[in-house]
Amino acid sequence: MKYGFFDDENREYVITTPRTPLPWINYLGCEDFFVLLSNTAGGYAFYRDARLRRLTRYRYNNSPLDSEGFRIYIRDGASVWNPGWQPVQAEPDSYRCRHGLGYSVIEAEKDGIGVRQELIVPKGGNCLLMRVGLTNRCDVQKQLKLFPYIEFCLWDAMEDGSNFQRNLSCGEVEVDGAAIYHKTEYRERRNHYAVFWANRMPDGFDTSRDAFLGVYGGPARPEAVFGSGCTGSIAHGWQPVAAQEFSVCLEPGERSSFIFGLGYIENPTDEKWEAPGVINKSRAKAMMARYSDDAAFDAAMKELGDHWDGLLSGFRLSSGDAKLDRMAGIWNQYQCMVTFNMSRSASYYESGMGRGMGFRDSCQDLLGFVHMIPERARERILDIAATQFEDGSAYHQYQPLTKKGNMDIGSGFNDDPLWLIAGTDAYLRETGDFSILNEMVDFDNDPTKAQPLMEHLRRSFRFTLTHLGPHGLPLIGRADWNDCLNLNCFSETPGESFQTTGPSEGPVAESVFIGGMFVKYGRAYADICRHIARTEGSDAYGREADEALKAVSDMETAVLTAGWDGSWFRRAYDAFGHVVGGSGCEEGKIFIEPQGMCVMAGIGRKTGEAAAALKSVKEHLDTPYGVVLLQPAYTRYHAELGEITSYPPGYKENAGIFCHNNPWITCAEASLGHGGRAFEVYRRITPAYIEDISDIHRTEPYCYSQMIAGKDAAGFGEAKNSWLTGTAAWSFVSISQAILGIRPELDGLTIDPCIPSSLKSYTVTRRFRGADYRITVDNPDGAETGIREAWVEEKKTELSGNAGPCLTGRGLLLAPAAPGSVVEVKVILGV
Ligand code: GLC
Ligand code: GLC
Repeated sequence: MKYGFFDDENREYVITTPRTPLPWINYLGCEDFFVLLSNTAGGYAFYRDARLRRLTRYRYNNSPLDSEGFRIYIRDGASVWNPGWQPVQAEPDSYRCRHGLGYSVIEAEKDGIGVRQELIVPKGGNCLLMRVGLTNRCDVQKQLKLFPYIEFCLWDAMEDGSNFQRNLSCGEVEVDGAAIYHKTEYRERRNHYAVFWANRMPDGFDTSRDAFLGVYGGPARPEAVFGSGCTGSIAHGWQPVAAQEFSVCLEPGERSSFIFGLGYIENPTDEKWEAPGVINKSRAKAMMARYSDDAAFDAAMKELGDHWDGLLSGFRLSSGDAKLDRMAGIWNQYQCMVTFNMSRSASYYESGMGRGMGFRDSCQDLLGFVHMIPERARERILDIAATQFEDGSAYHQYQPLTKKGNMDIGSGFNDDPLWLIAGTDAYLRETGDFSILNEMVDFDNDPTKAQPLMEHLRRSFRFTLTHLGPHGLPLIGRADWNDCLNLNCFSETPGESFQTTGPSEGPVAESVFIGGMFVKYGRAYADICRHIARTEGSDAYGREADEALKAVSDMETAVLTAGWDGSWFRRAYDAFGHVVGGSGCEEGKIFIEPQGMCVMAGIGRKTGEAAAALKSVKEHLDTPYGVVLLQPAYTRYHAELGEITSYPPGYKENAGIFCHNNPWITCAEASLGHGGRAFEVYRRITPAYIEDISDIHRTEPYCYSQMIAGKDAAGFGEAKNSWLTGTAAWSFVSISQAILGIRPELDGLTIDPCIPSSLKSYTVTRRFRGADYRITVDNPDGAETGIREAWVEEKKTELSGNAGPCLTGRGLLLAPAAPGSVVEVKVILGV
């Protein structure tokens, strides 16, 4: 069942009922000011840090769900309704919510009154703008009341939801004309306030929640709206809000437009006050003046549209498959930008108060946005690398405001260092900007310990080598990619952290997965060294490359012996030296992660283990909704395995469809030339292809979720944790690089498709190092892989035979063209 449709022309998903299975959200903002916005206008706003600078409140586990937001109440005689349906839930005669790129529009009509609520965070402005248009479609005059309403958060979202003995006494506001200022804690140490304003004078206002809603009223039945109007209340402590009241008289056919704003203002410390106790409003007034009319609003919309045109013009696809085109060309890239902005901090599943920026997550997110915003990716890499320790290990998380490593969680996740190579390698391949490697970067955020980025990579690589276990495989530490496989923890006490309890440097427990990573990213490291050796004529880098490849080859041997189980790659060895993820295990016999990573790394490609491992994935882990993480699911808690066995069977890491590593299987299948199967794995978790089962899937049909319940779960097929997931970046890699085969390499752009035989032709426009490549792939004979003929600028071109790490051996390597040029490329697949 569907709850809407894609409008590809406008790059929108149009939701046709407010009763979606879960709130379906959008992200507004692309710089410092952000809004999470659901299809019923639920959500919240923050400035830069969702915990420390929260502007409006949100109660995640509330009932009904999604009760707080950016509300508009319409009162029409005795009837009260919201264009977004929530919170009054009066049935509109028609309803549409259009989620577009960085904006949303809710349109509803009831009893002949049309309301259009448009929301956007303008570029270059620290505010949410909300335009509300009212149209009288009746043939009589209408007297209406309009009430906008938001509830302020007292800045630190954690304190706001817990430290009531203090914060119920702190709230302060000022009202000045059509603006309501929220200035809690501004009298003492804060130099920022929030402002809610309208572009015309209201007929009334409230700033006390009790006055507007009533102590026992609630947002579904505000006393001021249902009763005799706003009271002019000024909040002193308790719950400050911004509510206004407007009387509107509309003749038949008449339209009236209001612009509201919610802004964040910072004042220099010596300019905080206009008079004793009166905040300096000059910056707020400038903001209000800037967005005071329809023309300014329209201009902000246009600017945002242009911004997205620019971002998406780096990769465009036309394949004749609308679902594929809209995912690869629009929504997947959009989600990648959201992960750039949010990392794992704020979604409808991440409270914005918990996890900061993850080291491994941020490195992987890079793979999905580096082609859109290379300069910002560069900055991100340097920030991440600065949280690395001198021995090559890393803080597992860091805080976005301070960019400092997070002490609580610390270090010891032994896959982390290698992800830094992965992220940097992606940046180098995209941009060719080797100068980044010479940038001086702190260790442990300490400038006295700064070293060139290249030295950081070297230490990342060495970290694995100096942390090998009894079988020559990498020690796992607190966990590897799978945060929940905690082989050195042994927690028996509720509430303990599964990751930080127990000895982090267990000397026995090993990860086959990190072994695969070491082979894949160790090769990438060697390629980078080799490239420098060649371009700078440096023998030292040549030797470093040789040594790295020697270590990689030893690791390959270890993985193919101790890491091989007969029909698939094992997952790990636990602290007692027992196999995890082998046929001899009672439960958890086979895991997805090492199959994906080891095959992507090329391990066993020539000797058959790679193909056997993928065959086992298909046999044991495949489901119609995606590939599950492991089988059989763990049915009881194992202290020696950790958090993974704490989840009920079929959920999360315990045999859920953990979408993040499905694209690894896609890439792995493509590396063996299995285009049909690669596409099948891609398609099963890709939102547009499962839009029809939105009633089962439940999360948004335009973005990936972290997890879909697996076949062991009661809710098989039901997704959770949409938006902030490594699935976004890896899915984009899998479709753009592995399947469509457009792959940036250190020396140029490779074309090496691996597609389903049913795909007969497609065109990709790809910006690469400043040049635009228009690449047409024709597949007249229904091949899955292998280029037969190629033309560049209509000239027949020799195939490179082995274009870099070209998978099929029959790809085409294009040297970087002059920036600004347009290169026409045509290839024909087949034998
Ligand atoms: C979550 C984490 C990610 C981890 C994955 C598997 O998505 O953000 O870092 O790799 O879970 O445990
Ligand atoms: C990852 C996992 C999650 C776990 C968390 C922290 O995000 O997905 O299941 O709770 O790490 O341990």
